[in-house]
Amino acid sequence: MISEKLEKAFNDQINKELYSEYLYLSMQAYFERLNLKGFVNWMSVQVQEEHAHAMGMFNYLHERGGKVELEAIEKPEIDWASPLAVFEQVLSHEEFVTSRINALMDVAEEVKDRAALSFLDWYLKEQVEEESNVGGVLATLKLVKDDAKALLMLDRELAARVFNPPVIG
Ligand SMILES: [Fe+2]
Ligand SMILES: [Fe+2]
Repeated sequence: MISEKLEKAFNDQINKELYSEYLYLSMQAYFERLNLKGFVNWMSVQVQEEHAHAMGMFNYLHERGGKVELEAIEKPEIDWASPLAVFEQVLSHEEFVTSRINALMDVAEEVKDRAALSFLDWYLKEQVEEESNVGGVLATLKLVKDDAKALLMLDRELAARVFNPPVIG
């Protein structure tokens, strides 16, 4: 059985992961409007990953005899100034999520739930990968600046990203 305090912290994080899914879906729509199909693809993989992150915790809470409580999902932004502005926000959002995973692990440590800590290790590693992945795209976008040809080349590159359902925990 999971402690009430940790259960609450897991439910908060499920909401954050679902918000991430929603935010990236909104960004996907933005790239649809710009007709940048590679960016659309990249975001759609991101959306699926965030859904998988939420479901990993959803399933884990049940496995531990906890109760899932879904809260309202905050409305994401709809418009951005540029693809660069989008990826700046993606990186800062991922850094925020990393801080939330750390805070969740602090709660698990506090209630001495070692099983939960070991489960959450996967999320910690995933955040390192996410930040590095996003940081890579952001660095390229900074080089691209207003070069439309370079932007289209990056778009073609991002079209190659595929979703591999993660094995969580
Ligand atoms: Fe996530
Ligand atoms: Fe993420």
